Formats: sequence, C-alpha cells, structure tokens
Amino acid sequence: MSYVKDIICWKSGASVTDGTPAICEPGDFPEVHYDLSRLAKEFDRDKLSHGPSSLWRYWPLLPVDDPDNAATLGEGWTPIVQTPALGKALGSPQLVIKDEGRNPSGTFKDRGACVAATRLRELGIKTIVHNSSGNAGGAWGMYAKRAGLNCVNLLPNDVLPASLCQSVYSGADTILLDGEWKHSGPMVAEAVQKMGWFNVGTFKEPHRLEGKKTMGLEIAEQLGWTLPDVIVYPTGGGLGAVAIYKAFRELMTLGWLPKGPLPKLIVTQYAGCAPVVKAFEAGVDHADLWEDLDVPPGGLKSTRPPGDQALLKIIKETNGAAISVTTEDAIAATTQAIDLEGLFPCPEVGTSIEGLRKALAQGMVTSDEKALIMSTGSGLKSVPVFPTPKFRTVEAGGSLSP
Ligand SMILES: Cc1ncc(COP(=O)(O)O)c(C=O)c1O
Repeated sequence: MSYVKDIICWKSGASVTDGTPAICEPGDFPEVHYDLSRLAKEFDRDKLSHGPSSLWRYWPLLPVDDPDNAATLGEGWTPIVQTPALGKALGSPQLVIKDEGRNPSGTFKDRGACVAATRLRELGIKTIVHNSSGNAGGAWGMYAKRAGLNCVNLLPNDVLPASLCQSVYSGADTILLDGEWKHSGPMVAEAVQKMGWFNVGTFKEPHRLEGKKTMGLEIAEQLGWTLPDVIVYPTGGGLGAVAIYKAFRELMTLGWLPKGPLPKLIVTQYAGCAPVVKAFEAGVDHADLWEDLDVPPGGLKSTRPPGDQALLKIIKETNGAAISVTTEDAIAATTQAIDLEGLFPCPEVGTSIEGLRKALAQGMVTSDEKALIMSTGSGLKSVPVFPTPKFRTVEAGGSLSP
C-alpha cells in the first residue's frame, strides 16, 4: 500500500484518476500528493540507509503499491562528485556535480521511466507511446521491456545512435519523424485518440515526475540533509527541475529537511531552443512556441516546454535565472569538464557549465555560494556530437615517444 493520497492538476486542482489520460489543460499537469503526516509517523529518514542503493530506497515517497516488484535495473543513487578544478576555473570553488550518466541507459531519464513503467504495469496499461528527442526513448525502451509493456517511441530523425540502439534492440516500436520536431506532440496525441495507447510524454502523466523527484531526495540525503545554495539544470520540458523542487518541499513538510530557502534554480538551454530563457528575460509567466529549432542531436529540443509555468514560478521564487548558451560554448564547456575533472558528461550538461560561468559573471551567483550542476547524462550517449578528437598514430613495431 502506497502513501498516495490523491492526484490532482497542479494549477486547476482538478482530480485525476490514476491510469487514465490526465485532464489537465496545457501549462498544467497531474501531480501526486502523499499522506505525509501518516508517512512521518510510520517512517523515519534514518531508515533510508537500510534500503537499496537505488532510487527504490525512497519507496514511501513513490506512487507504487508493490516496490518489491519494481521494474528495476538498479537506477538512481548516483554520486555527487567533488569538482574543485572545474569549480576554480569557473569561479565557483565549492562546485559539485551529480553524475546521472551512471544510470543504466546513461541518463536521468531512467528514473522517470522506471517508476512510471512499474506503476503502469500495476494499473494494467498495455501500450505506452511518447515523443522523445532520444534519451527518454532509449530509457523507455529498456524499462518497458523490463515491465513487459509495449512501447512506441517517436524519435527525431537525427536521434543519436546509442538511443536508437537502446530503443530498437529492446523491442520498442521505433519510428523516426521525417520533418519538423514541433509536429511530434500532436502526432502522438492523435495516435492516443485513435489507438487508446497511454501517453507517457513529458508532464502528460504523473509518474515520471515522481521518478525524477528522487534526484532531489538524493541530493538532500547525500549532502547530509542539507541543500546546495544553487542548482544548475539543463532544461527541456522542465520535468527534471520541477521534480527536484517537489522533492525538497516534501522533505521539508516531512521534517526531514529543515525549513528554509530553496536553492536558486538556474535553468540552462541551448540558444537554438530557449523558450524558457526568452520568457524569463521578458518577465512573463509562460513560454511561447520556439519556431526555429537549432540544437545538436540529443536532448533539450522541447520547443513548447510543458513545464514552463511551474519552472518560471520556481525560478522567480528562488531568485534564480534562465540562461542560454550557444552550442559551440556548450561543447567547449563539456570538453573542459572532461579535461579538468575526468568526468564525461553529455553536451546538454555543457549548457549548465557555461551557464554557471555566465551566472557568476553577471552576479546572479556568487563565488561563496555552493553550486551543484546536474549532469543529466553521459557523454557516451552523445559521442557523434563531440568534435573529432586529436591524436597521434604510430606504425606497428615503432617506438612510443612522449
Ligand atoms: C541529457 C538531457 N538533459 C536534460 C534534458 C531536459 O529534460 P527535462 O525535460 O527534464 O527538462 C534532456 C531532455 O530533453 C536530456 O536528454
């Protein structure tokens, strides 16, 4: 038995029945609420350390009936890595990076797919569908397989090979969209109407958000039940960042985290798809459709981010910011992180590294604030996006010189 109390639309408060298509309007989304007072009486945060080294240690804060029957591949509980050399170069000496690239498919998307696939199997859902720029497609292929669900993945035609292999070889019905990506959402909506498939697209159902929430739960626990001053997050649809702040709020309500100011949220986007940055700079509370998508293959392709209103609200409440970064600068920042720290993040994370540099330069963040960058995925998923590395060659039998 889970601690779920109800599921309601974040903005309108309308009630949502679990496992049925959510009725929330655009800009709104279904959100799980828990009976936190019962949970606080029956469970203590110290018990967490007896749980598995995966996101399932947080089962009381997840919307599943039987966590022992989870469709798991060992996702979550990713490390927070100290990054003093990169921090020094950026002017943020206390910088740390949470490395989501360690997840089974190579990105944080596993968290949402795992929890949602587990719950949807409990609810008797048979076929799921969504549009994904690639990383979620790979994750959903793998977790749908694990949960015994049929999976239909609509992916862009520049999808990266690693995501394509994960999707195809895990048996997902994999369809590449020939044409502009902005058409992908309406195409999925039409398929849902006609076929009765279940839409697991960003913010379309409540369970992915809950899975991604475990990033925030881990940040708090791994930092000894404290929070950083600043969180920098590469943002597409907004699900990851919104989920992290939901976690912090639930932990404060439970009394597991002291009540206090939430970290400043700095969201970063590629300059070629920056609808949240545009809205932030215009001082408005919602993002408009971004017409001219120009980003490298991979994530951050959300031309109309469904989490825009929730994101902009968090940014405002936490005195945060939204910052855009050119593709060139993002890739340069990514290779700088590899060079200085031996980490291997994907270029989407480069928007956050460069974004933090800009935030420091503009005084939005100060050098004495403890910043945490969410490294949402591994560079292994994005190898074709990196510039060809320079190297030397040697003839067989020749000598190696310095
Ligand atoms: C590697 C990576 N980072 C970040 C994101 C942004 O995700 P979200 O929808 O949670 O904002 C995506 C997806 O677009 C992604 O693939």
